Amino acid sequence: MRDYENDNGTMMFGGMSAVDIADRFGTPVYVTDEQILRQNYRNIYGAFAQYMPTEIHYACKANTNLAILSILNQEGSHIDAVSIGEVLTCLKAGFPAERIMYTGVNVSNSELEQVVATGCRINVDSQSELERLAKITTDIPISFRITPGVSSGHSAKVMTGGKGAKFGIPMDKVIETYARAKDLGFELKGIHAHTGSGGLTVEPFMDVVDVLCETVNDIKSEVGVQLEFLDFGGGVGVPYKPQDPEADLNELAMVITDTIKDETDIKTVALEPGRYVVCDSTILLTRCVDVKDAGIKKYIGVDAGFNTLIRPAFYDSYHYVAIANKFNKAGVAKYEIVGPICETGDYIAHDRALPEAEEGDVIAVYCGGAYGFAMSSNYNSRPRCAEVLVNQGEAELIREKEDIEDLWRHQIIPARLSE
Ligand code: LLP
Repeated sequence: MRDYENDNGTMMFGGMSAVDIADRFGTPVYVTDEQILRQNYRNIYGAFAQYMPTEIHYACKANTNLAILSILNQEGSHIDAVSIGEVLTCLKAGFPAERIMYTGVNVSNSELEQVVATGCRINVDSQSELERLAKITTDIPISFRITPGVSSGHSAKVMTGGKGAKFGIPMDKVIETYARAKDLGFELKGIHAHTGSGGLTVEPFMDVVDVLCETVNDIKSEVGVQLEFLDFGGGVGVPYKPQDPEADLNELAMVITDTIKDETDIKTVALEPGRYVVCDSTILLTRCVDVKDAGIKKYIGVDAGFNTLIRPAFYDSYHYVAIANKFNKAGVAKYEIVGPICETGDYIAHDRALPEAEEGDVIAVYCGGAYGFAMSSNYNSRPRCAEVLVNQGEAELIREKEDIEDLWRHQIIPARLSE
């Protein structure tokens, strides 16, 4: 887990005091350090590119802020997009269509038509989607997502690659599907699988790459097509806890690219990290608004709940927390950090040793860049919070916080009800 600088008891983030950022922009607020974001992208690209031509398809579902996307576009990233909304958002951020790969699941015809019209790359998820796509056009290069029978992830909710999963072409139908696509006249470019999200072991990557390599060779011998790229998905985990190990990217890249080069004639390796690229580039700052001693438990009530960060409530995920204005003080009590949502399941962190908390303290929640803002909501009629970008001591607003009127936008009261 990343350590942040301590300036006489104040947490520093991106060359600025986290407390100053909270005071200036209000809380809750997601704050991203541009330098960390760029570094993460360069680390993962560099690890693989030293061994073979590499495309990093940033899985933008993790974070689609336009400023963050613009930074990754400058870095030369590609995109993994799952919806027409993500495709159009990435085009708006400046990505050329050919650097965007759309991998939908349960895709409607109207979405397919819109995606085709953008000119981005399409990775087909099912035989049904292939037939429906063929009715729109066959004059595009495509690839397929297969169901590799390998599954991984930090929670059962995010494991995607196991046999029988809703994603991808089942293994026993892969050859016939590539053959059918060839007959339909499509240009067949690649193959893709994704095992799941946020596991910390390397085995699932090795296993899925083995399956993909074998399948590439079967497609060559049985369908007569040499694929160009192999995309083994996302899922590179990050350390959320101080004692968690870091992924050894160089080792991972070496083993994977060795396998691909030894066993196939694939030219390009692609991977789709979401979490790895953005997760620890961003913290969530939230303010202590209430302190309660409930006898058997002590509570720090903060202004961010699962409307702002749902991962603890939804997946039981751990996010490290620190009091940014007491950064050099040792923990003296165990606290529950809880939000303003009227559900007992609304929490940010359980049972954390922290310095004595007071109203007004600024709590930093680590690792907020991946699936943080992206999964936030208006539940309990709370406007979504702001996002800020910091870069070497300068801070800029990259998303205004919503106001109350935003909650009512798009709602209609039939005239007869307001008479
Ligand atoms: N590629 C595909 C096809 C995916 O479905 C995903 C994530 C990724 C790449 C990126 O995975 P990553 O590198 O970020 O692990 N909301 C959950 C995570 C859901 C991930 C869904 N798919 C969370 O907060 O942990």
